[in-house]
This record gives sequence, C-alpha cells and structure tokens, in this order.
Amino acid sequence: MRASTSTIHFGTLSEFSELMPPDKSVFVTSASLRKKASVRLPKGSEDARWIEVPDGESCKTFPVLESVYHALLSFDADPDTVLVAIGGGSVSDLAGFVAHTWKRGIELIIVPTTLLSMIDASVGGKNAIDLGNAKNVVGSFHLPTHIICDVDWLSSLSEKDLAAGMAEAIKHAVLDGEEHFRFFERIADAQVPLSALGGKTFEALIRRSQEVKLRYVEADLYDSRVRHALNYGHTFGHAIELLTGLPHGYAVAAGMGAANALAMSRKALDHATVARIARVLRHLGLPSDIPEAFAMAGRTLEPETLLGLIRSDKKRRRNEVDFVVPHGIGDVRVEAVCLDELAKVLPR
Ligand SMILES: NC(=O)c1ccc[n+]([C@@H]2O[C@H](COP(=O)([O-])OP(=O)(O)OC[C@H]3O[C@@H](n4cnc5c(N)ncnc54)[C@H](O)[C@@H]3O)[C@@H](O)[C@H]2O)c1
Repeated sequence: MRASTSTIHFGTLSEFSELMPPDKSVFVTSASLRKKASVRLPKGSEDARWIEVPDGESCKTFPVLESVYHALLSFDADPDTVLVAIGGGSVSDLAGFVAHTWKRGIELIIVPTTLLSMIDASVGGKNAIDLGNAKNVVGSFHLPTHIICDVDWLSSLSEKDLAAGMAEAIKHAVLDGEEHFRFFERIADAQVPLSALGGKTFEALIRRSQEVKLRYVEADLYDSRVRHALNYGHTFGHAIELLTGLPHGYAVAAGMGAANALAMSRKALDHATVARIARVLRHLGLPSDIPEAFAMAGRTLEPETLLGLIRSDKKRRRNEVDFVVPHGIGDVRVEAVCLDELAKVLPR
C-alpha cells in the first residue's frame, strides 16, 4: 500500500533488512523496547547504531531532542543516513521531527510497535515535540519512506494499550461506513479479551484503518480542511485527556460520545446510531461519554474547567470551534459550532 511517498509493509523487520543498510542506518527506540528491537534485527546487525530515548511521552521533549542530535553527530550521520524509529507514536513523533531537521532532512522508516501507532501515528507524516505541558506544539510534516508493521509487537501490550488503539480504529470505522463499523460490532459481540483476537484479525483491522487514514491524508496532506475530519472526538478528547490523565484513546472515545450527543441535539444523528457506537466502545472497555471517562479516572467532572480548556483550543475562532459532527456512520462533517452549544452537551 502506498501513501503519497510512504509504502506500508506487513512482516518482520528482518524481512525488510535491505531497506536499512547497516552502514547507513541509525535506530531510535525507547529503553524498554531496545532488547525486543535488537532481537528482531537480521543477523549481522550486531554493530547497529542505536539511540535510546526515554519511554512514552517523556521522549518528546527538547532535552531529549538535543541528545538525539548529539548522538547523530557522534555517529557522523550524513544526509544519506536512514533513521529507523522503532516504537509507539511518541518515538515516531520524536524521530520524525529529527529526520525532518537533521541535515535539512534525512530518510525516515517507522516500525510502529503499538496498535495506535500502527493505525494512526505512523501514517500521514505528522510529527511533534511537546513544549512543557503544551502537547505537540512544535512539529512538521515528514513522510516516512516505509512503515513496517509486525502484529507480533502487539502481544506484549496490555488490554488497556490495545483498547486505546481500538478507539482510534473505531473512529476510522465511523468515518468510513457501515461495513467497516459492523466489523467492530462483531468484535464487540464476541466479548473476548482484545489480546485474544489473533494476528490475522489485527492485521485486517490495521489495514482497513490505515486505508481510511490514508484517504484523508492523500486528500489533504497538510491538514488544511478535509483531514480535520480525523479529529472526530478530539475537541472534547484533548480536554478530557488533560483533566483525567486517561490514555489518549480513552479520552477520544469519550470525546466521540460527546460529539455524538451534540450531533443528536442538532438532529444530525439519530439515537439508535449513538447507541450503537456507545455499545461498541463500552464492550471494548472504553468510556462512551464524558461522565464515564471521569468515573473511570476517579475524577470529578467540572464542566466549566473542561469548557475553559476548549476555549483555549488553538482551532477556536472568536466564539466558534471547528467541530467534527457525525451525521451517520460514513457521514462525518466538519462544522462551526459555538461554545454555548458545546456547553449544552455537558452534564450539569
Ligand atoms: N503523528 C501523529 O499523527 C500522531 C497520531 C496519534 C498519536 N500521536 C502521538 O503518539 C503518542 C502516543 O503513542 P502510543 O499510544 O503509540 O504510545 P507511546 O509511544 O507513548 O508508548 C506508550 C508506552 O508503550 C510502550 N510500548 C511501545 N510498544 C510496546 C510494545 N510492543 N510492547 C510493550 N510496550 C510497548 C512504550 O515504551 C511506552 O511506555 C502521543 O505522543 C501522540 O501525540 C501522533
């Protein structure tokens, strides 16, 4: 599958060793994944050059960015260097920014190791670094030449990590249409732990999800309008994430529930569809609305604080935000919504 200039592969790292010549490649991964990553490299890679970064979001900082540049300097990394990011979305966000800026741009290959990064973060070329508490405020677009997905990585993820990835996959299914959404209804009906789904199901799920994201990316690589539809659930989601500390996917799931409530109050979406989406989210262990998210996190919901965060959202224009309103499964639109209308869907 090709996404503008990215090619997506499924298979083990060693099957694609020719893409990563040892004399040109530098591998970036987090400390906790280093061992798992090393054993997946092909034989003869014992001398591979590695850069280890802290785990998770804590690698997306300026001190870590600087340390990666210093490591590249020590490796004499030139413009022909291939930077291979092995990790979740945090590692690929950091490595993507490094690849964009080192020597004014070097080749990037992403090996996503979480469900979320396979279906979302590795695809589409966005990267970012955090500035203090301000998430993703410094970043660029730099497409990886290759994305290498191996569902075997998923076996070491917890149910919670898998569910967080599922939230973005369900979001893609709602954007896509009935058939794709029914795929998730069948998974929800089976009522088995996500870890028991099996590699074939995961691969099918990831491929379908990537196809949806790619359609939006290819229509609007630089995120000027069409791609905004991918923010379904994210306006409330970002605020929920900040206030509850829940994983991103959990907050997005609750944000989708809130977006659905708003769509229903506008008579854009019927109750039966809202209930179908909520049911799939709940069956997969995700919150289906804002009160459920706060209850799950053991936090008290203060609607004014949550609205305050949305008010400071960078996408706000005067009293309105661009908001993703679902009109049905397969019909999701970006519309201007005023802050008073957002307030009405919050429980009082
Ligand atoms: N650029 C984009 O388009 C985009 C899209 C969505 C999210 N993101 C970013 O992605 C980040 C979240 O990424 P994430 O959810 O993949 O998590 P993550 O990269 O933050 O990793 C979470 C944890 O999982 C561990 N981990 C990773 N792979 C593992 C594996 N196979 N087995 C066991 N543990 C593993 C990591 O070491 C870390 O501790 C956020 O920073 C977010 O902003 C970017």
